[in-house]
Amino acid sequence: MVRLAEIEDLPALTEINLACFSGNQGGPDSAKQWMECRLNSFPLYQVFVLEVSGTVVGYIGWEIHGGFQRPLPVVELEQIGLMPSFQDKGLGSVLQNESMATIARWVGDNNKRIEAQINFTVWAYSGNLRAINSYMKIFADGVVGMRTQYGGRSEVMLRHQLPYIVSVPREEH
Ligand SMILES: CC(C)(COP(=O)(O)OP(=O)(O)OC[C@H]1O[C@@H](n2cnc3c(N)ncnc32)[C@H](O)[C@@H]1OP(=O)(O)O)[C@@H](O)C(=O)NCCC(=O)NCCS
Repeated sequence: MVRLAEIEDLPALTEINLACFSGNQGGPDSAKQWMECRLNSFPLYQVFVLEVSGTVVGYIGWEIHGGFQRPLPVVELEQIGLMPSFQDKGLGSVLQNESMATIARWVGDNNKRIEAQINFTVWAYSGNLRAINSYMKIFADGVVGMRTQYGGRSEVMLRHQLPYIVSVPREEH
């Protein structure tokens, strides 16, 4: 089950962050503070968790860029991680698909100026082939950008342009 994260999920989010990423390895307090900041940034930043048999085993964070009322909204998959024993089972795709659908609905309900689509983006280290292969199933426009931000490790940006159907009220006769 994929659902919006709550403050009660903070211990699990902290554990997953430490198991998957290097940025908060200075100590558990750092990972906890990082995830707490993310949770407190809703709706600018939206965290979803994946539960298996009632246990949180993964999370994904989406960030809305450039304002809430852009005619072409841009939403970035900023971070995704699964506990190691739950990786390589297709669950990353489940987490991406279901949370993307939910945040697309949130954007649709809250942005009155959308014209035709929502642009979803994600940056991945060029060497993280597993993440890239997982993203490619959804971010099917492929690579549309490149940067070198963290040391010498290059990253590629993948994109998915989700068509947005604007409903036009029928004319009264
Ligand atoms: C990245 C991550 C979320 C992907 O989720 P996942 O459930 O493990 O992966 P998926 O099953 O969705 O897809 C992985 C794809 O890569 C492929 N793959 C796995 N290991 C690979 C490798 N070493 N090289 C190339 N491809 C690989 C798989 O075969 C699969 O493709 P397929 O479905 O066509 O067979 C998860 O592995 C994870 O948490 N990794 C650690 C944290 C991380 O790197 N996060 C991304 C950066 S923010």
